[in-house]
Amino acid sequence: MKTEIYHADTIKEAAKQIQAGQLIAFPTETVYGLGADATNETAVKQVYIAKGRPSDNPLIVHVANVETVEKYAQPLSEKTRLLMKTFWPGPLTIILQLKPGALSKSVTGGLTTAAFRNPRNQTTLDLIREAGVPIVGPSANTSGKPSPTEAKHVYHDLHGKIAGILDDGPTQIGVESTVLDMSGDVPTVLRPGGVSEEKLEAVIGTVRSDHHKVGKNEVPKAPGMKYKHYAPNAQVLIVADEQWPEALKWAAEQTSPVGVMTTKQVSSQNEIPANGEWFSLGDDVQSASHNLFAGLRHFDTESSVAYILAQKFDKLGLGEAYMNRLEKSAGQQYFQTPKQ
Ligand code: TXA
Ligand code: MG
Repeated sequence: MKTEIYHADTIKEAAKQIQAGQLIAFPTETVYGLGADATNETAVKQVYIAKGRPSDNPLIVHVANVETVEKYAQPLSEKTRLLMKTFWPGPLTIILQLKPGALSKSVTGGLTTAAFRNPRNQTTLDLIREAGVPIVGPSANTSGKPSPTEAKHVYHDLHGKIAGILDDGPTQIGVESTVLDMSGDVPTVLRPGGVSEEKLEAVIGTVRSDHHKVGKNEVPKAPGMKYKHYAPNAQVLIVADEQWPEALKWAAEQTSPVGVMTTKQVSSQNEIPANGEWFSLGDDVQSASHNLFAGLRHFDTESSVAYILAQKFDKLGLGEAYMNRLEKSAGQQYFQTPKQ
């Protein structure tokens, strides 16, 4: 199958593909998604096949307005309405109880709930309206790989497997949406993301967070959390600020090239060794989140390193989402000062 590239001026053609049951990758403010008509079960099944995604991991339903959510979900609570009013369109995915049988099992993974999101990207909102159906969209990467923040990342993973990519340039935020479970008694963050817990609490009061490391025998609430994630070919090691001199000394002793992902500030204060390949995370946690997945992918495609040293940030605000993704890509491995 030839994978077509669409732009804002060819949305109508892309929407026709969605209506015909084809897969079209679409831009959002967080990462690119892999789109299919949420009401077409055959099309939704193709999403799992194209990504190589386990079939018990449910998909996010992307909508252009709140009315579409009301069509599928149980009556919305006041808190849920307030969240939608405050953060939509934007990087907040809300899990709600469904009306019985409202969406197919392939969308929900057999749960009685579904995840809804109103993305902050005009081209994609137009695509959803033009297609006239909600669009399911997991991140448009091969399962296990870093999420795509540029159309070329999607093309790399999925060309030949999907009908098209709607290219709207690089995404802004770079890490995925916050997943907030509003289906039970206590609002619970299942995945930290573009909207911080502090911001959620300012609007609806206390939220619980349930995205910390899941024990071997525990069943995570967001099924996606139990799978290997965001992993480049190289081993990622997380480096705290004060450890850079040690870590770069260790890197210099390696026989092969080592990837180094830091802010400009850290790189200006430390010497990157000759075998070190530096990828800039920009100036702060915002730019680091924007660049994280692109950097991990850079070392997979543009170079071949055995290790990637990557900068740690405080788990505050967007730093919570950045560290959640980085820890997964590293399999929780932090740089340890080697024993003498
Ligand atoms: O920013 C984003 O959210 C991107 C863009 C494309 O919208 N999408 C995305 O989708 O990251 P995905 O499929 O890679 O991640 C969705 C997460 C998974 O961890 C999944 O298990 C969880 O949301 N999820 C979906 N439906 C759920 C449900 N009913 N209950 C609990 N978790 C759910
Ligand atoms: Mg994903």
